[in-house]
Amino acid sequence: MAIQKVGVVGCGLMGSGIAEVVARSGFDVIVREVGEAPLAQGKKRIEGSLAKAVEKGKLSAADRDAALARMTFTTAVEKLADRDLVIEAIIEDLAAKRELFTALDALCPKQTIFASNTSSLPITDMAAGIRADRFVGLHFFNPVPVMKLVEVVRSIATSKATMAEVFAFVKRIEKEPITAKDTAGFVVNLLLIPYMLDAIHALERGVGSMEDIDKAMVLGCGHPMGPFTLIDFVGIDTTLRICEIMYEEYRDPKYAPPGLLKRVVALGRFGKKSGKGFYDWSGAAPIPLPLDGEI
Ligand code: CAA
Repeated sequence: MAIQKVGVVGCGLMGSGIAEVVARSGFDVIVREVGEAPLAQGKKRIEGSLAKAVEKGKLSAADRDAALARMTFTTAVEKLADRDLVIEAIIEDLAAKRELFTALDALCPKQTIFASNTSSLPITDMAAGIRADRFVGLHFFNPVPVMKLVEVVRSIATSKATMAEVFAFVKRIEKEPITAKDTAGFVVNLLLIPYMLDAIHALERGVGSMEDIDKAMVLGCGHPMGPFTLIDFVGIDTTLRICEIMYEEYRDPKYAPPGLLKRVVALGRFGKKSGKGFYDWSGAAPIPLPLDGEI
């Protein structure tokens, strides 16, 4: 049976984007957050994004209202019991994800498909003992309303029927699916993380300034943003977590988090979302933050 009712767990940067895109495509969506404050914040983010789309003439006011009417916001996990597909977008922590899916497993019918938006954790580790045949990775990219790709991660236990249903769903939300093997980092982060880390190593070695390294990749290679802007955009804490997971899996130094990445996170500079990362994002244009103590 085709997927009709969708649950999104976690309404942060990724979860809110996923919920918005799914609701705009005509699906009934229940969005769940752990507390009222993050739920309200996530809802506000979705409303802001929809308002911007209307402002830009990409969405009619009637379609915005219809998308909002298809969304229900809740803190109660029990509300997800009637969903055909539940997409998880919570913190990148295996134990937290397994706890959530174990609770969902007791609530949802056996045919409900469970999906994780993890950027690097192996799906098999998450799904083991929890309906592994109806479990996939659905890895979206930031900003979700703009980026067309979804990596569909197939574990060694995911059934062919589940993959077919999920592929059809991804096409219905007007994204492009690719199949990725269930190994840490999948396709995109396997290639993207070493690139980001090489930029940090280059900065540490004094090859160029942060702005010039960014400028080099934008003007020299046509990238939409340079590596430091991109790390700030993804989240420095998220990038660090992905490196840690990939290093744990492969034990290859190319995924080892550089000291500078750890230090910036230790200072609470998580990137654009926290106002400061490698750049200061509080003004109209990002300003590179000095890394030599001369702030
Ligand atoms: N929501 C909706 N639309 C958005 C948006 C958002 N958050 N941000 C930008 N847009 C839209 C704009 O409205 C604009 O649309 P139009 O052209 O129709 O007007 C379009 O995107 C371009 O935006 P801007 O002109 O404001 O700025 P830009 O040209 O610099 O584009 C960008 C912004 C799309 C983010 C672009 O810089 C980009 O593609 N950057 C790279 C993003 C990227 O690599 N993402 C993947 C990160 S990796 C990841 O997410 C996964 C992981 O596991 C780490």
